[in-house]
Formats: sequence, C-alpha cells, structure tokens
Amino acid sequence: MDLSEKTVLITGSTGGIGGETARGLARLGLRVLLVGRDRDRALRAAARITADTGNERVEAFSADVTRLADLRRLAEQVAERHDALHVLINNVGTAGERRELTPDGVETMFAAHVLAPFTLTHLLLPLLRAGAPARVVNVTGGIPGGPIDLANLQAERRLLGWTFSHYNHTKTIQMAMSHRFAELVGGTGVAVNVVYPGHGYTPMNRAMRIRSFPYVYRPVAPLVKLLAPIFMADLTKPARSGIRMATDPALEGVTGAYFGQDGRRRPWPPSVLDERVRDRVWSLCEELSTRPLGHLSY
Ligand SMILES: NC(=O)c1ccc[n+]([C@@H]2O[C@H](COP(=O)([O-])OP(=O)(O)OC[C@H]3O[C@@H](n4cnc5c(N)ncnc54)[C@H](OP(=O)(O)O)[C@@H]3O)[C@@H](O)[C@H]2O)c1
Repeated sequence: MDLSEKTVLITGSTGGIGGETARGLARLGLRVLLVGRDRDRALRAAARITADTGNERVEAFSADVTRLADLRRLAEQVAERHDALHVLINNVGTAGERRELTPDGVETMFAAHVLAPFTLTHLLLPLLRAGAPARVVNVTGGIPGGPIDLANLQAERRLLGWTFSHYNHTKTIQMAMSHRFAELVGGTGVAVNVVYPGHGYTPMNRAMRIRSFPYVYRPVAPLVKLLAPIFMADLTKPARSGIRMATDPALEGVTGAYFGQDGRRRPWPPSVLDERVRDRVWSLCEELSTRPLGHLSY
C-alpha cells in the first residue's frame, strides 16, 4: 500500500522524539494523528508539522495516556473520524523521583509505559485489524533488560536504588507485555514490536533531576545534563527508529521482536522470556485496565 494511504497514531507527539517521528512520517506522506496532553499544544504542533512538511493530513488529539478515561475517549474520537489505523506508536515516556499514583490508582511510570500501551492497543484493535497488515510499535528507553521484580511492578517496594530505577524496570515490563501481546494477536495481521530509539535532548530529560537517577549514576548525572543539549540536540536521529518501524517494507510480517537503535534485531532479555513473568504482567494489566468502569474487547 502507498504510504499516503496509511494512517499512524503516535502518543507523546507534540514534542520530543515523538514530535520528530511525527514530522518524519508526515514528510513521507502518511496521515498523522498527534497525541499530547494539551489540546492547544497539540493543535499548534499539528500546524507546525503541516507548515514544515506541506502535509495537510496532520490531526491533533489530546489525552493524558496515564489516565484510563482519557484513553477511552481518545479511542472513541479516533474511531469516529477513521475507519482504519495502520500504525500505532506508543511513545510516551515519563520519569520521576517519587512514587505517584494516577487518578485510577496506578503507579505513574507503570501507567505510562505498560498500562497505556496495553489499553490503547486493545481499544484500537478493531481499527488496527481493519488496517491490517498493521503495526504496533512500543518505544522502550533507559537501560531496559534487567530483572523484573513481580513484587515491585508498581514500585510498591522501591522506586530507586544503587543501580535500580523504576523507569528502567517499567520499560522492561513493557517488553514483557509487548511480547505477550504479539503472541496473542500475531496471527491477526497486527504486528507488535519494541524499539529502542536512541538518545535525544527532550522535555523529559530536561525535566529530570539528579534525584531521579539511581545512586551510582548521580556523580556523572550533572555532566550528562550539561553535555546533553550539545550532543543530543538533533532529534532526527532517535526519530529514525520509529519511522523505520512504521514504514520499512522489510519489516512486513515481523512481530514479537525487539529492535535496537541501530535498527538491528536484539535478543529479548531473559526476564522477558520467563513465561511466569509475562503471565503476571498480563494479568495485572487486564485487572488494572478494566478499572473502574471500563471494558476491553479482545
Ligand atoms: N530522550 C531520550 O534520550 C530517550 C532515550 C531512550 C528512550 N527514550 C524513550 O523515547 C520516548 C520519547 O521520549 P522523549 O524524551 O521524547 O519524551 P518526552 O520529552 O517526555 O516527550 C514529550 C512528548 O510527550 C508528551 N507527553 C508526555 N507525557 C504525556 C502523557 N502522560 N500523555 C500524553 N502525552 C504525553 C508531551 O506532550 P504534552 O507536553 O503536549 O502533553 C510531548 O509531546 C519515551 O518512551 C522515552 O522513554 C527517550
């Protein structure tokens, strides 16, 4: 199918790496649905991308993806305007130094990195199936791949440690959720993959304080923060991975895979390959996503 016949939705796309990914996809001619928390910011971002690329088919939606009610409203609005979706990029990332809960009572990083992609992908599955072959791209980050602590999925025990950060933990949990999602929907023409985008100086890491880093990284954190605006300012580089995952014909039919920032396939971390871990993560997502009044169709 011609790229101009494809529709892509990207969460967290009014700025940062998601914004640059949206711009790149608009330049290639896809219809691009932007999602940010604020309606006016989303409208302004859409207008900027249209002005930069000449693509008039850039639409703005607003939703805080950590809130289940927002995800349900977003999915309804997208379904009102579109019959099919070809690519969904779950891009939102968030970091913090304190354990915080969303209005649904879910730990915020777990909500952003695991529950939001789980819920939004389920809610948009009918549109993705209508657009098959369709692609779901879940964006990982930090240093993913460590152990998954089933007793600490929502940072019930700790948020930061010497080398541990819940940010990295939830990005690894996201991988386990994505792996299971691919197992379940792989045969239906909807591919689910994970990609590491690479680094960029974005609103998220601008806002990150030294206290958000695990203890061993804190001595070097000021230097990283100092150098990041110089060496990581160009967001077109980390945006390349998402653009490729969305459009590369060579990836047609590839599902249940993890790709590094160089575009190469990487092995799943051992924690993700543990079936018991995937079962627990999946059942927790099912339990949380249907709270308080929602339902999901599989
Ligand atoms: N930056 C890096 O160096 C790096 C490295 C590896 C991986 N990653 C991963 O790449 C992805 C993008 O990272 P980034 O650094 O570009 O993130 P970012 O700076 O936080 O992205 C900003 C975008 O996310 C939106 N956003 C933030 N929270 C949101 C929420 N709860 N609901 C909806 N939209 C939300 C913002 O929109 P509004 O402000 O308009 O709401 C804005 O469009 C993340 O998954 C991150 O973990 C980043």
